[in-house]
Amino acid sequence: MITQQATIPFGRPMIGDGERAAAAEVLEGSTLTHGPRVKAFEAAFAAFTGAPYAVASATCMAALHLAYLALDLGPGDEVIVPAQTHVATAHAVEAVRAKPVFCDCDPRTGNIDLDLLETLITPRTRAIGLVHYLGLPVDMDRVLALAGRHDLRVVEDCAVALGARVGDTHVGLLGDAGCFSFYPVKHITTGEGGMFISTRADLVERVGKQRAFGIDKSVLADRRHSGAYDVELLGLNYRLGEIGAAIGVVQMGRLPGFLEHRAALYARLWEGLSEIDELELIDSRGDARLRASHYCLSAVLRDADRDAVIEGLKARGIGTSVYYPLALPDTTYYAERYRYPNGSCPNATRISSASIAFPVGPHVALEDADRIVSSVKEVLADA
Ligand SMILES: Cc1ncc(COP(=O)(O)O)c(C=O)c1O
Repeated sequence: MITQQATIPFGRPMIGDGERAAAAEVLEGSTLTHGPRVKAFEAAFAAFTGAPYAVASATCMAALHLAYLALDLGPGDEVIVPAQTHVATAHAVEAVRAKPVFCDCDPRTGNIDLDLLETLITPRTRAIGLVHYLGLPVDMDRVLALAGRHDLRVVEDCAVALGARVGDTHVGLLGDAGCFSFYPVKHITTGEGGMFISTRADLVERVGKQRAFGIDKSVLADRRHSGAYDVELLGLNYRLGEIGAAIGVVQMGRLPGFLEHRAALYARLWEGLSEIDELELIDSRGDARLRASHYCLSAVLRDADRDAVIEGLKARGIGTSVYYPLALPDTTYYAERYRYPNGSCPNATRISSASIAFPVGPHVALEDADRIVSSVKEVLADA
């Protein structure tokens, strides 16, 4: 018999009194955009990551789009991206009318397969659009060596990797640009939101302008009076508002604690789940050099039916997710557009079709790891 206990959702935003007060303070004033909170959030993010520049954006997808615009990519250019990722990674390339070329993943970690990547480079390849999958940094020494040899730009999609570092360098600062997401189930949240970071002043200047219609002067700092501006570039409105930024400032203060909790919960869950033969754990643990930030713990089911396992866990109050449910070349849009045969990236297809992601966020108590593990054992015994 299944005993009903409190539900553990896969993700839950950690909104407390601090975030509520910060949002209320914005609403008590009249500055909802173009205000000091966005600047403060950018400064806090830059301080945490060590980035010389940080530009807040509406979403991670927006930041990725801005990155490719700033790199001047367009029709005729190819960007190699992982097959095992969120569709935003590839759509950002499509959005500038360049072509995403999909690379399969390493079945052990789910990160892009760097041996295969080299074979996909053509004379049209201009960039690599990496993802630090589930918070495990890609081996950036190898990527940068490859990019250097072929004169390629590197965009790091860090949507699920806030807090991850290669040695002492935060992800997003190893390539030309790094883009982050603050969607509610991410390491921190602003509701919707994103951040662009880079060590390149030229890219940051472009992104700053193209984030806001291509206007040459910011409202806060540069305009003598309202309307005193010119338009230098094609741009979009990809700004983050003051309410989100105010919440983001408070979340940044809590981030070190969140990361510590994630690491501890991941280790405890790993210990329990690694005893289960039916599960093949995706190894996002990292090591002393590739320092992971533990977005979730994902495992491939060797034989059991995934839907049945998800339903069984749900009935026991355990929320799960799938990262990501379709290898991108298997999606209708990309399969039809570039004529990818189904299963062209077999490792990505296997992870997409047979994996389950377990939560390690700070909304889950450390002791709940034991309940998650025993529930998985029960469900698999019934499967
Ligand atoms: C790897 C990756 N890139 C990009 C995104 C898109 O982020 P956003 O919703 O902030 O645009 C996600 C969202 O989950 C993601 O997982």
